[in-house]
Amino acid sequence: MNIIHLETSRPVVVGSGIAGLTAALGLGDCLVITKSQLAEGSSRWAQGGIAAAVGDDDSPSLHAADTVAVSGGLGDRLVAELVTRSAPERIEWLESLGARFDRSNGALTLGREAGHRRHRIVHADGDGTGAEVMRALRAAVTERPEIEVWNHTLALDLLRRGSRVAGVVVRTRDGRLTAISSPTVVLATGGIGRIFSRTTNPAEVTGDGLAMAIRTGLRIVDPEFVQFHPTALDSPVDPMPLLTEALRGAGAVLVDESGRRFMVGEHPDAELAPRDIVARANWHRRNQGGSVFLDATHLGATFPDRFPTVFASAMEAGIDPRTDLLPVSPAAHYHMGGIAVDSNGRTSRPGLYAVGETAATRLHGANRLASNSLLEGLVFGARVAADARDLHESMDSGAPLVVPQSTFDVDSQDDAETMTALRTTMWNHVGVVRNATGLDQAAATLECLAPRTGVGPISRNLATVANAVVGAAKARTESRGGHFRSDYPSLDSTWHRHTEIMPGPEPTVVIGLAERVVA
Ligand code: FAD
Ligand code: SIN
Repeated sequence: MNIIHLETSRPVVVGSGIAGLTAALGLGDCLVITKSQLAEGSSRWAQGGIAAAVGDDDSPSLHAADTVAVSGGLGDRLVAELVTRSAPERIEWLESLGARFDRSNGALTLGREAGHRRHRIVHADGDGTGAEVMRALRAAVTERPEIEVWNHTLALDLLRRGSRVAGVVVRTRDGRLTAISSPTVVLATGGIGRIFSRTTNPAEVTGDGLAMAIRTGLRIVDPEFVQFHPTALDSPVDPMPLLTEALRGAGAVLVDESGRRFMVGEHPDAELAPRDIVARANWHRRNQGGSVFLDATHLGATFPDRFPTVFASAMEAGIDPRTDLLPVSPAAHYHMGGIAVDSNGRTSRPGLYAVGETAATRLHGANRLASNSLLEGLVFGARVAADARDLHESMDSGAPLVVPQSTFDVDSQDDAETMTALRTTMWNHVGVVRNATGLDQAAATLECLAPRTGVGPISRNLATVANAVVGAAKARTESRGGHFRSDYPSLDSTWHRHTEIMPGPEPTVVIGLAERVVA
């Protein structure tokens, strides 16, 4: 098949969330491609805020210690120190771009979330942090003419030349297939939440970067570690509206159908126990036919000002949180696993960086501390840009450009019913609590669905990622962090290690190039 060939020496950034735009601003002259509009993705929905040790009673080392403490033994202390040390400067940088964080008497107002021993969550408009940060980043990018943005452009697969990644094949807004060859590609495509039917993640978050990396044979780590948020508003809305953990930090409590505060008996930190513990407690009650509610009525008339985003979603669902209990369900929220990268965001293949939720930096291990992921995108986005700017590797222009053969098997359309079947299976069998029978059932269903998932660009990615999650979840015969197996409910010290997958790259084809454009 002939496709348009665009050749550029500029880096190509795939994705325009916090990680992609931070990288783009650091790179300067680059091309950003994004599947919907600039700045859409999870980042703009972030509520709680950005963790940074800026309080008088706090320090980056305390923040790093809290990060590692919840990580199920797999968080890397050096990475945690690197990230937490950079946090105060990253907040200043966002402010220099025009982001307005909540302040009182001139000082940043700091919230608290589960696992943090200090108040250290910097936020904006109460629970509107993501929207404000992305407004500032989008404005900064728009003011930089050397950053070119292609909206409504879907990255399909990575291009390779020999062992290097050498660009990306995209479908542009007008439906044309274009091979963009470039010496540097930055994948910033976000997480995988949409492989589950119950998720807080918006429509864009379908694991595309991870799926492309798997097809290209990159090193992947810990795909089984998915974080389930304990308090999504239990409603048929997709994505499920998040009820920020900051509500619990501000004194909201979880109660069962009889009004009993069940977390008190489960963990010394009760509602502010690590997220995986609260999510499982919620799941168990609901699974036994009970109901779980968040009671934030103590906030009374202050609710709309302090948590305007949550207030709006609750009212839309017909619940007034000033007076009524909020029904809650766990929901897939964040992916700790991803494309393995080093401390500069380099992947296992030259020419390719990964940053943000699609990358696995070893910061979070098996469980992420709340509000550490926007921070990770800010810190690693800047590091990727600095590293890529200094890199002057030349491509082996003699080798042919290849793409996975299956790139050409996909149509432009996805089948909604097939995707629903996949997502429901993943929620039912690979969700908060897993076991061998359920995982086998999920694997069998994915196999049955394969002829149908393989034909849509997004369903193909959902299936690739779902298979990786199921495979690793089957292999890890223990419980750790976000991965809980009812048939192996304890931590097993022999599993005190990362799961690593290095898939063989899929069969490739040399692409035939039609028009050739040099940019
Ligand atoms: P995203 O922001 O998801 O951006 C991914 C980008 O890639 C998007 O622009 C998307 O369109 C693009 N893309 C994807 N696939 C393709 C493709 N094939 N081709 C082209 N473009 C593509 N974390 C915190 O630290 N604090 C919080 O308070 C917080 N609250 C959250 C609340 C909600 C509701 C959610 C869902 C998450 C929250 N998180 C929070 C997690 C955090 O928002 C994410 O981990 C983080 O924003 C990920 O940033 P990112 O840049 O990696 O990805
Ligand atoms: C929340 O506000 O509860 C989400 C914070 C996060 O996921 O980091």
